[in-house]
Amino acid sequence: MYKLTGVTKRYSRGKETVEALRGVDLTIEDGDQLVIQGPTGGGKSTLLQMIGGLDRPSEGSVELDGVNLATISEAKLTRLRAEKIGIIFQSFNLIPTLTAQENVETALVPLGVKPAERRERAAEALSSVGLGDRLKHAPSELSGGQQQRVAIARALVKKPKVLLADEPTGNLDEGTRDDIMGLLEGLWHEYGLTFIMVTHDSSIARRAPRLATIKAGQITLTEQGRGNGRFTPQQQYAEQGNQGY
Ligand SMILES: Nc1ncnc2c1ncn2[C@@H]1O[C@H](COP(=O)(O)OP(=O)(O)O)[C@@H](O)[C@H]1O
Ligand SMILES: [Mg+2]
Repeated sequence: MYKLTGVTKRYSRGKETVEALRGVDLTIEDGDQLVIQGPTGGGKSTLLQMIGGLDRPSEGSVELDGVNLATISEAKLTRLRAEKIGIIFQSFNLIPTLTAQENVETALVPLGVKPAERRERAAEALSSVGLGDRLKHAPSELSGGQQQRVAIARALVKKPKVLLADEPTGNLDEGTRDDIMGLLEGLWHEYGLTFIMVTHDSSIARRAPRLATIKAGQITLTEQGRGNGRFTPQQQYAEQGNQGY
């Protein structure tokens, strides 16, 4: 479970200070899906970085299962990220010189997994995102949607508790966006992930069980009628009149 209390983040640039987050309080239960929406520059990515332990708040605490990511040592934070948190980005962030399989394996290196097991687990993860026949392809030999699938496999191969996504469909066309969203929903449900996603896509935000809107560093939460309970993608489709994404 995440508990954010009074999270403020200031960036200094020369004499200027930008307050990207202003006193954000937020609780996210295990297995929850939370969508974060809001205008450009509102603080969405900054919030995701705090939640992912990629950066630390200027004030306030970010507790994951009682551990405060704001104050633990850099070594512990690195370890915690490697074990518990998978992250995907709009721009995929794959290493261009590595194959799909090698890209996925990189997530297991910090965990000390032996090469043979790494290869096997990476191949399995790629199969689970529908790329079992693309193991040896370089990122440049894959479509945008396929590259995002590789990034998803890389995020999930370590079996994390938390999946974070920063505009994961921002670089994709509509059809591919629907494929990737369907895949993410399925994986969220199958693995019981805590799934937190930033998007500016209203059609995705409308479907989220919980919606956080961030403007000028301040958060507003909306429960969209389903409480905190888990539900299947099928139920979700049914409730929305089978509109899909
Ligand atoms: N590394 C940084 N240094 C200085 N300012 C930053 C940095 N990252 C973000 N900001 C500023 O913080 C604010 C929030 O940015 P961000 O979280 O990226 O917004 P969003 O993801 O909602 O577009 C913006 O005003 C942005 O310019
Ligand atoms: Mg952003």
